Amino acid sequence: MRSSHKLGLLTVLGVLAAGALSAGAVGLVLPAPVANGDFRDGGAPNPAEVELGRALFFDKVLSGNQNISCATCHHPAEATGDGLSVPVGEGATGLGPDRNTGAQSNAIYERVPRNAPALFNLGAAEFRVMFHDGRVEADPSFPSGFRSPAGDALPHGLKSALAAQAMFPVTSMAEMAGQPPENEIAIAAEAKDLPKVWAILEDRLRAIPGYAQMFEAAYGLKPEEIRFADAANAIAAFEAAAFRSDGSAFDRRLRGEAGAMSDSAERGMALFYGEAGCSGCHSGAFQTDHEFHAIAMPQIGPGKGDGASGREDYGRERVTGDAEDRYRFRTPSLRNVALTAPYGHAGAYATMEGVVRHHMDPVDGLYACDGTEAVLPSRADLDSVDFAVLKDPELLAAIASANELSAWLAGEDEVADILAFLNALTDPAVLEARGTAPETVPSGLPVID
Ligand code: HEC
Ligand code: HEC
Repeated sequence: MRSSHKLGLLTVLGVLAAGALSAGAVGLVLPAPVANGDFRDGGAPNPAEVELGRALFFDKVLSGNQNISCATCHHPAEATGDGLSVPVGEGATGLGPDRNTGAQSNAIYERVPRNAPALFNLGAAEFRVMFHDGRVEADPSFPSGFRSPAGDALPHGLKSALAAQAMFPVTSMAEMAGQPPENEIAIAAEAKDLPKVWAILEDRLRAIPGYAQMFEAAYGLKPEEIRFADAANAIAAFEAAAFRSDGSAFDRRLRGEAGAMSDSAERGMALFYGEAGCSGCHSGAFQTDHEFHAIAMPQIGPGKGDGASGREDYGRERVTGDAEDRYRFRTPSLRNVALTAPYGHAGAYATMEGVVRHHMDPVDGLYACDGTEAVLPSRADLDSVDFAVLKDPELLAAIASANELSAWLAGEDEVADILAFLNALTDPAVLEARGTAPETVPSGLPVID
């Protein structure tokens, strides 16, 4: 039997009915405003480290075939995502929804199984768990300070979970490494020899004069001393600085600016942090408890290889090995959520309204999802597996029965207010963040697809 953690409106009503609280007496408890002290760098990033990280983040030199960078899937012009349900990795060309599936020998082998999340505010110290299933996590009981798929092979000296995360995309064949025998990184990646992948990349970076100079400026390192962990720390410093995003109307409201939010957004915020129960999971100033919940989110794309079909994604269970955690995924932060479509861990919902309505009746939402909202460049063989889970009644029933989110019984006005609040989480600076991209990178490879 799985334990039940029903959260949401019904819980709140239950508490009210029990007389523990009365609606009038409940003062709305809002999070404290975001402050410099919430960030690991205290709001004062090291400029040389950030510049190095910026170059690395946009440089295709970190991929096996030198054809994709971190920015391809996390582009500032796409609100640090890629605008697709699930990404099209190395081999393809183009950015955002215009990305293709690659041609001839570069045709992609498979899509990447999960939606590329936005990267806002990950420099805040409370973000200690990375990925939809939390497989990279700060944990002092490990020698490196982090639990991760690399186990003891993860190098020491990584400064944060965000830096530890940056060790991994380069080791993924579909994302950045490529298919063997295309290149030596792909061969090492297939053999799961992660230290070899990192060593090859270290050699590449050491040989590029522009990087030698930047590693010297950021960390005082000679070329032969450069390690991939240093590159990961710099990438994290860039992500933390460039994608800090606390200038929304909601932030101004928390800082005490009268009239910062519309009346509708005010009502939506009261619902969100109050009777709608959203903050039971989407808690705090960044709207996440950093925990894992099963909310019957539809699964599309190739899957993570779970289940008899291999098309499923067991989510948190993949990390803990505990069947209780099946279909649980991390509560996403909702900063700039209006800009980060598609939604859900596999991007099954094209609109913010759609995914909010999913929360109103998760099981109905799951069964109503037919995949037509997917944003994916079409290719017949890829398409044929993308909707396997949605077409399988047994798998749908399993996802439905794992659901732990109570239906949120709201009227149309309340939905509109919640959406107004979610729109108030947009930081206007994000819309101008295209300037984050450098014009050139030290490898000399093209920055734009
Ligand atoms: C092909 C697309 C692709 C590329 C290239 C890529 N990513 Fe990602 N990124 C993803 C996907 C998909 C996920 C979610 C994977 C998961 O949860 O299993 C992700 C997750 C992340 C996360 C975790 C965010 C969170 O909230 O948990 C960070 C940080 C990140 N990527 C940074 C990077 C960096 C840095 C690089 C380059 C070294 C990079 N990514 C390259 C697609 C990509
Ligand atoms: C039981 C915990 C829980 C509650 C309560 C909850 N959510 Fe969620 N929410 C989640 C989880 C977990 C996800 C991601 C699920 C997945 O991808 O499988 C999510 C996803 C979302 C997303 C999509 C974000 C994205 O980037 O894909 C939005 C928007 C959202 N929730 C809004 C709300 C609102 C509004 C409420 C209140 C009406 C609410 N949530 C209540 C757990 C919860």
